[in-house]
Amino acid sequence: MDVRIYEVGPRDGLQNEAQIVPTEAKIELINRLADAGLAWIEASSFVNPKWIPQLADADAVLAGIRRQAGVTYSALVPNQRGLERAMAAGLREIAVFLSASETHNQKNINKSIAQTLVLLADVVKQAVAAKMRVRGYVSTVFGCPYEGEVSLASTLKVTEALLAMGVYEISIGDTIGVATPKQVHEVFAALVKEFSRERLAAHFHDTRGTGLANVVAALEEGIRTFDSSIGGLGGCPYAPGASGNIATEELVYMLNGMGYRTGVDQQKLAEAGRYIQQVLGRELPSKVLKASCAAGAAPQKGAGAS
Ligand code: HMG
Ligand code: MG
Repeated sequence: MDVRIYEVGPRDGLQNEAQIVPTEAKIELINRLADAGLAWIEASSFVNPKWIPQLADADAVLAGIRRQAGVTYSALVPNQRGLERAMAAGLREIAVFLSASETHNQKNINKSIAQTLVLLADVVKQAVAAKMRVRGYVSTVFGCPYEGEVSLASTLKVTEALLAMGVYEISIGDTIGVATPKQVHEVFAALVKEFSRERLAAHFHDTRGTGLANVVAALEEGIRTFDSSIGGLGGCPYAPGASGNIATEELVYMLNGMGYRTGVDQQKLAEAGRYIQQVLGRELPSKVLKASCAAGAAPQKGAGAS
């Protein structure tokens, strides 16, 4: 495999859907994503269910999925309570998160960046002691919905702090989808000067249509792990205006065409995309999904979860 795809649709996607998807449909989606060859799946979020009611059933989802050999299932963990829930679910990998901008961090996790780093150091230490792998997200790297421009110095500082705690990889987030390739080059060039490329991933939202161009720019900087959502589902409920992640179907299509191996079966991926589109009863943004529907089964509004 040349490029590692980290599927975040069941978490980043579904956390931002207006309707709450039934637990059984989430389980079916995750099983289908694993069947399609996605070997890293962020399945849900062990955050405060009052903050993200769409993922309040995280414990039931993790208990219900068929754990496939060779697939790493993960979930977001914001604090001690989240870590306990992840351990009870038998997860071997979790993801912690914070923002490079103070205001977004406060709105998203109800704490300052400094307070979050203290709290996460303890969570990561316990997780590593329990032999869990910990991934980290740094949000709002390319722009903040409250503060606008975000300093690169802040990104470098929190990235360094997370890596020093024992986090194995940092996913650099364009939370509100404002980045363009020039900025992606600048940010990743600065990051790879300080940290090894193997410990960095890119998490682009496609709010303004620059997502795949940003992937190419990050590839050119040597980044080989990308987050994406099936169908282009997604967003962040505490980032006004944020829309979906880059679509997994589009990412896989583009990478295959460029000669990168991803290990993902495009046919099965299209079936998983059509499935969640039918559950939601609305057309999803993924253009490759649209093309596959035009070529075969057209989406039927409100066709249900079966
Ligand atoms: P808080 O209200 O300050 O928490 O929230 P608290 O510690 O004061 O606890 C309040 C209550 O919540 C207590 O219950 C706790 O037990 C409960 P009460 O005593 O009132 O009955 N609680 C929990 N329950 C279940 N699981 C938990 C948990 N924690 C507390 N883990 C907190 C602080 C961090 C928990 C809250 O702000 C939160 O959950 N925030 C999450 C917001 C979120 O999920 N945002 C979206 C994900 S981030 C994102 O999308 C960006 C990303 O995609 C990258 C990018 O795009 O850049 C990753
Ligand atoms: Mg995101």
